[in-house]
Amino acid sequence: MKQLQDKVAIVTGAGRGIGRAIALAYAAEGAKVAVVSRTPSTVEAVAKEINDAGGTAIGIACDVGKRDEVFGAVETTVQAFGTVHIVVNNAQGFGTESDPQPSTVFVAMEDTNEDEWEYTFRTGATASLWFMKAAFPHMKAQGYGKIINFASSSGQTGFPGNTCYNATKEAIRALTRTAANEWGQYGINVNVINPALETRAFEKWKTARPEFVQALVEKIPMRRLGDPERDGGPLAVFLASPGSDYITGQTFLLEGGMHTFA
Ligand SMILES: NC(=O)c1ccc[n+]([C@@H]2O[C@H](COP(=O)([O-])OP(=O)(O)OC[C@H]3O[C@@H](n4cnc5c(N)ncnc54)[C@H](OP(=O)(O)O)[C@@H]3O)[C@@H](O)[C@H]2O)c1
Repeated sequence: MKQLQDKVAIVTGAGRGIGRAIALAYAAEGAKVAVVSRTPSTVEAVAKEINDAGGTAIGIACDVGKRDEVFGAVETTVQAFGTVHIVVNNAQGFGTESDPQPSTVFVAMEDTNEDEWEYTFRTGATASLWFMKAAFPHMKAQGYGKIINFASSSGQTGFPGNTCYNATKEAIRALTRTAANEWGQYGINVNVINPALETRAFEKWKTARPEFVQALVEKIPMRRLGDPERDGGPLAVFLASPGSDYITGQTFLLEGGMHTFA
């Protein structure tokens, strides 16, 4: 018996990086997966990859910063697969709506761009809340749900120059603890992953600040950056599976021991 046999999972930001790795891992464990992300071509490519490998997936193009699209994505999933058991809030917008790019430069808190504040919050904490609200009635009715939200050690440590991102990520952790408290009685577990895995975002840091990334890798106890498929998929499977039924409101540091020196 596979760990997620016949469970229905929504994974946001699944067009690439950590979200894609989790979608593949869930499908390999028997889940029916809604691959949700912003760019239609990547959504379709990942859904096809899963279906070609013998799994079950649909692709749903959705900007998580748009409320109607979020509620519509959950509705489409329920129409296709009957319910939703697992939600992974992995997508996160960076920059501003008109220029949604991550930044690798230090921006002092006093210079915070308020358009960036609004956009990172809407596509981070607010989007996570929207998905949780939309999935909740289905999870409550079946007495079972697994929600996995994505935050960051940058927020946890208050990494300098990263105000908007840090704040939305810590709001996501507060949202997680609150939902864990309120929804545990319905059999719904809500947890957070703080990752440090090598994705396109890290590639940008490697190019812009190679000395920073080099120094980081030398200090990480495991002496490497994590890999989305090798390291991200297994933890996300565990947090979606019955093995984690008694774990809720927790933050899991998927970062090779980085917190030991941060
Ligand atoms: N990588 C790390 O080490 C690290 C560290 C700390 C926290 N995190 C967190 O982990 C999560 C995944 O990170 P990642 O490195 O895998 O990111 P990534 O490689 O940049 O991939 C992000 C995915 O999210 C999608 N996305 C972005 N904005 C969206 C929006 N408004 N609506 C829908 N989809 C959207 C992207 O779609 P497009 O293809 O359309 O751009 C992409 O598929 C994020 O929450 C991130 O903050 C990652």
